[in-house]
Amino acid sequence: MMQPTALITGADRGLGFALAVDLLEQGWRVFAGQYLPEWPALSQLARQYPDLLQVVALDVSRMDSVQAAEQAVAAATDHLDVLINNAGVISDTAEHTIRQAQDYAEMHRLYDVNALGPLRVVEAFLPLLDRGQLKRLCFVSSEAGSIKRSRRIAWYGYCMSKAALNMAVKNLFNYLGPQGYIFRLYHPGWMRTYMSGQKNEAADMEPDDAAVFALAYFLSEQDEDELVLCDYQGQEWEW
Ligand SMILES: NC(=O)c1ccc[n+]([C@@H]2O[C@H](COP(=O)([O-])OP(=O)(O)OC[C@H]3O[C@@H](n4cnc5c(N)ncnc54)[C@H](OP(=O)(O)O)[C@@H]3O)[C@@H](O)[C@H]2O)c1
Repeated sequence: MMQPTALITGADRGLGFALAVDLLEQGWRVFAGQYLPEWPALSQLARQYPDLLQVVALDVSRMDSVQAAEQAVAAATDHLDVLINNAGVISDTAEHTIRQAQDYAEMHRLYDVNALGPLRVVEAFLPLLDRGQLKRLCFVSSEAGSIKRSRRIAWYGYCMSKAALNMAVKNLFNYLGPQGYIFRLYHPGWMRTYMSGQKNEAADMEPDDAAVFALAYFLSEQDEDELVLCDYQGQEWEW
């Protein structure tokens, strides 16, 4: 087999960074999407793995950035095996109920990154993925996108953007599943990451631990012809 090769979006910190570390330790070639160049971890990792890791500037909310990233990756490899759409954002005003002012511009931003971002990335990188052997499309969604199980009274932008992502993935699955692609739609658990701007120490899991569960599911050979919203404990969530 050719050297297994992956692209991860939003790899500066949090789950995306931990996934990059794990794949590198397993000998994968990794293209890591960098959104936050002033955050040093990814550049340090690139010095540790000069032959395996390539850092690529990538803002999934802008098609010109996604296309430039694709050109940078295509200059270095003729294929990608696994795409991990991990980049995601949440809002400071998420907790506002409908009796408080909603920040609609912020909701647009969340939709643009969380729902449309992965679609842009799939569109741009599909030719490289077509030439890969594993053909795995992985999407970090959230329990917050499950309509059936929602008990929240706010968080409109985040929940709606993840529900929209789930629908996008279903449509991709309908089209690309018969073309040999395997899909992983995933809720990673409540992680001590940086989504709220600083590390959330109250959460359940370090991203390093969450990445082990995530990678096991992304690379698992079970149920390869199905699309389910699966969590880190292997439980299926209703859409
Ligand atoms: N944390 C949780 O408990 C939890 C639970 C369920 C699902 N998730 C999902 O897990 C994924 C990873 O989140 P995380 O918890 O690891 O959060 P994180 O630490 O904030 O990591 C997300 C990464 O994506 C980057 N990013 C933001 N906007 C971007 C853009 N336009 N283009 C490319 N990258 C961008 C972030 O940069 P900045 O730091 O500059 O924003 C950050 O490096 C997200 O999709 C999130 O929705 C998280």
